[in-house]
Amino acid sequence: MDGNGRWAKRRGLPRIEGHRAGAESVREIVRVAGEMGLKYLTLYAFSTENWQRPKLEVRALMHLLEFYLQQEIPELAKNNVRLAAIGRLHELPSSAQRQLEKGIAALKDNTGLTLVLALSYSGRAEIVDAVRAIARDVKTGAIEIADITEESFGRYLYTAGMPDPDLLIRTSGELRVSNFLLWQISYAEIYVTETLWPDFRKAAFLNALDDYSKRHRRFGKVASSDSV
Ligand code: FPP
Repeated sequence: MDGNGRWAKRRGLPRIEGHRAGAESVREIVRVAGEMGLKYLTLYAFSTENWQRPKLEVRALMHLLEFYLQQEIPELAKNNVRLAAIGRLHELPSSAQRQLEKGIAALKDNTGLTLVLALSYSGRAEIVDAVRAIARDVKTGAIEIADITEESFGRYLYTAGMPDPDLLIRTSGELRVSNFLLWQISYAEIYVTETLWPDFRKAAFLNALDDYSKRHRRFGKVASSDSV
């Protein structure tokens, strides 16, 4: 959800105002994703690298997250949204962890969109955590080395049980992956827009989905019409 800082700077506002406006985009995009019948929406809300931002900004972001969770649960419940979180969640302030657990529990039986918040998340850390868990299981004899396959590896990731993303949207024109879902995005379609996250609302999201719907996905194979 890039571009909050730049959005604020262009208006002569403190960065946190950009994050606040970004939280409004989160509300709208989650609502639209549900309405469109999407099954999963993962938002990169806070990376492990983000801990190195100024203390005041980190604190403000954590407050914003807690406030969002507190305020939004009834609306998410009404819209049949389920909540999940991925990342080194134990690194979050305990109040944010509690709020998250509360939200996840309150929405666990919903069957519409699953909103996944990536918090204190890093793709490399996720892979390292998975390797550690696998090594432990090999050591205790719970699994054999031969049992380690692409499929079983996926079950050790934070995203176990979730489908890989079909579409990766990058706002504010950044042409980087930034440590996001490194394993899972192998075949994701990438969509980059110059729009800053606080300006990324319904129309911009529908444009991204429309662009995606025109892509021909081949997953490394040839299109059936091209086979000889
Ligand atoms: C990146 O923009 C954005 C973040 C690090 C935080 C994203 C958080 C929110 C949108 C609000 C809270 C989240 C939820 C789920 C309610 P940036 O600050 O790097 O912007 P810049 O690249 O323009 O500096």
